[in-house]
Amino acid sequence: MKSEDLTRRFVEYFEDRGHRRITGSTLLPPPGDPVLFTTSGMHPLTPYLEGRPHPLGRRLVNAQRCLRTTDLDEVGDSTHLTVFEMLGTWSLGDYEGPVSLDWGYGLLTEGLGIDPGRLHATVFGGDGQTGPDTPSLEFWRSRGVPVELTVEDNWWSNGPTGPCGPDSEIFLWSGEGPPRSTPTGDQRWVEVWNHVMMRHRRLDDGTLRPLPQRNVDTGLGLERLATLLQGETSVYDSDVFEPWRRQLPALWTLDERDRRLVYDHLRSAVVVLGDGVRPGNTGRGYVLRRLLRRVLTVLVRDEPSRTLGDLPGEPVEHTLDHFRQDMDPGEVRRLLLDEERRFLRLLERGRRVLARPRFHGPLDEEDFHYLHDTHGLPRDLVESLRSTP
Ligand code: ALA
Repeated sequence: MKSEDLTRRFVEYFEDRGHRRITGSTLLPPPGDPVLFTTSGMHPLTPYLEGRPHPLGRRLVNAQRCLRTTDLDEVGDSTHLTVFEMLGTWSLGDYEGPVSLDWGYGLLTEGLGIDPGRLHATVFGGDGQTGPDTPSLEFWRSRGVPVELTVEDNWWSNGPTGPCGPDSEIFLWSGEGPPRSTPTGDQRWVEVWNHVMMRHRRLDDGTLRPLPQRNVDTGLGLERLATLLQGETSVYDSDVFEPWRRQLPALWTLDERDRRLVYDHLRSAVVVLGDGVRPGNTGRGYVLRRLLRRVLTVLVRDEPSRTLGDLPGEPVEHTLDHFRQDMDPGEVRRLLLDEERRFLRLLERGRRVLARPRFHGPLDEEDFHYLHDTHGLPRDLVESLRSTP
């Protein structure tokens, strides 16, 4: 099943259950929002989770593109991407958690044909402030799905303050042979769908207050589930990366980890550019610059003549089409090349600065700060320059 078919099936399933589709927003949160990028499908809906009536009612569904820089260091494993899509559903003070879990279970098993024996759930076990999530626990028991109770892993919030609540996560077994252990005990359990019982608001002093309504906020990782439904275990082997896999290996020979980083960061950079961000030294522009510099660091480390000017048009066009962005691919290419030129100048400067006797021995934290703050040389670039002759 292609990822686009999965999105369609998901949306239709929830439309049949009274949900209205809302258009997913861009990666840019509304003005005045403190975060740089949309990190979860619920993010643009925060005012409605806090009680404002939504014009389309109490049951919503959508596909929302998200960007998470917190996962940047995990990029390169089999399941984390910088830009990914979240398929989401919301009950804004309407149905409760067990109904949401029941529909989720129904879509995965009857709707998408997943063997129920490959599922595992996790449920909030309770802490000093909030009791265990007994309704979710009872629901999973009634379906015969094994449950693991945790505390921190089953509490979801979008930041230190604001709407939050206990959650129940659905994991799918990705290993060969029969499932083993539990989600916290074996990484082959892949989290695909989180159902958050979003009923609390955390205040500045850390205390919890009930929200005016009891919501459910769910998010399913599109690329992850598509990967598993396609019989693969790494998101890089899913249809999302098909044109990248087909075109790039002939151009640049990279080991597996570098290959994943290059695909993820370049694809993410295209989406961020498509949403109107331009490289810069602060905020969103800096995130974009950092993604591109990580790619360029990897590319030129082994072969200085590599250039983004060789990047074929198809992966870029495929990405822009997928996210329905109407940016001209030629403009993407022009911006990538601009950024590459800037990077090459930085590299030159880096070589000159690092040739100074002060930097010949091992570097300490103070050196890294100085190189970054005074010369604009990020740590990974410095390390890469020092490890190449
Ligand atoms: N907001 C929840 C999440 O991002 C669904 O996992």
